Amino acid sequence: MYGNDFAPLLEQVDSAERDMQTSAEQRLDHQTEAPDHFDAIVAADQKVEPRDWMPEAYRKTLIRQIAQHAHSEIIGMQPEGNWISRAPTLKRKAILLAKVQDEAGHGLYLYAAAETLGVDREELVEMLVDGRQKYSSIFNYPTLTWADIGAIGWLVDGAAIVNQVPLCRCSYGPYARAMIRICKEESFHQRQGYEILHTLSHGTPEQKAMAQDAVDRWWYPSLAMFGPPDGDSTHSERSMAWKIKRFSNDELRQRFVDMCVQQAGVLGLRLPDPDLRWNEERRAHDYTQPDYDELMRVIKGEGPCNRQRMAHRRRAHEDGAWVREAARAYAEKQHA
Ligand SMILES: [Fe+2]
Ligand SMILES: [Fe+2]
Repeated sequence: MYGNDFAPLLEQVDSAERDMQTSAEQRLDHQTEAPDHFDAIVAADQKVEPRDWMPEAYRKTLIRQIAQHAHSEIIGMQPEGNWISRAPTLKRKAILLAKVQDEAGHGLYLYAAAETLGVDREELVEMLVDGRQKYSSIFNYPTLTWADIGAIGWLVDGAAIVNQVPLCRCSYGPYARAMIRICKEESFHQRQGYEILHTLSHGTPEQKAMAQDAVDRWWYPSLAMFGPPDGDSTHSERSMAWKIKRFSNDELRQRFVDMCVQQAGVLGLRLPDPDLRWNEERRAHDYTQPDYDELMRVIKGEGPCNRQRMAHRRRAHEDGAWVREAARAYAEKQHA
């Protein structure tokens, strides 16, 4: 029933994992000076590890990207957490609970990966709660019905996978390893969303309409997840040269559209784009771009739920202060 091509994506994750093991066995010796050694590692598709010399800008770029990614996993728990108590069956509730918990785990892997670059997790969390660092704008949209949980799994987790599979080959070892684990779990998230929509779209006319409405609302924000169009993307070129990034925003967006068209057909749902059609010459679908002005407004804090998400995050952070204090006190006691 999945009728999807996520299997090839998972195959890419496995092959990135195999290549990582092979390159670790053939690790280059430190024969050259530091900057040359860094360039040699990147050129040979090997991994830069925390103790290796790296350009300061490479370190800063990674900290910014990994932190933003970690924050997105944590804030991303909110729109779906909203439906845990209202899931239609006990089984759906257990699945959603597990999924939201996975996102917390993803945040944890990523904060840990960022810490290998010499920042403190607490510092990163501070930067999130006081607004100095951002998270993915997609989580500033509300989840109005149960079908939104399906649409988020199918489209939002789906877009996340398309974005993240190439990151399994990122030149920075700890990030690449975290991404391999995360992608494997994301594929489960995507399928649970797809299955919710499949059930709804084959249910009553009201259920089908609810599924269609959710897809209508989540389609363009999901396309915007790939970031601004290539011409306007500020960090891309250098990230490509460092092999942090492997494909451009527009390439990944196109890949996502092409995958979704086929899956929407199996779901029996329509993608809300009258101009979506196969282009034989390009061997890809033509489609309408998302509204990038809206994307910029949401990033700047003017999305429907920005204030609510941040207020909730701050409250949770304050409410959790006693846990951090207790853990610190216990660690000190153990140390003594
Ligand atoms: Fe995740
Ligand atoms: Fe996910």
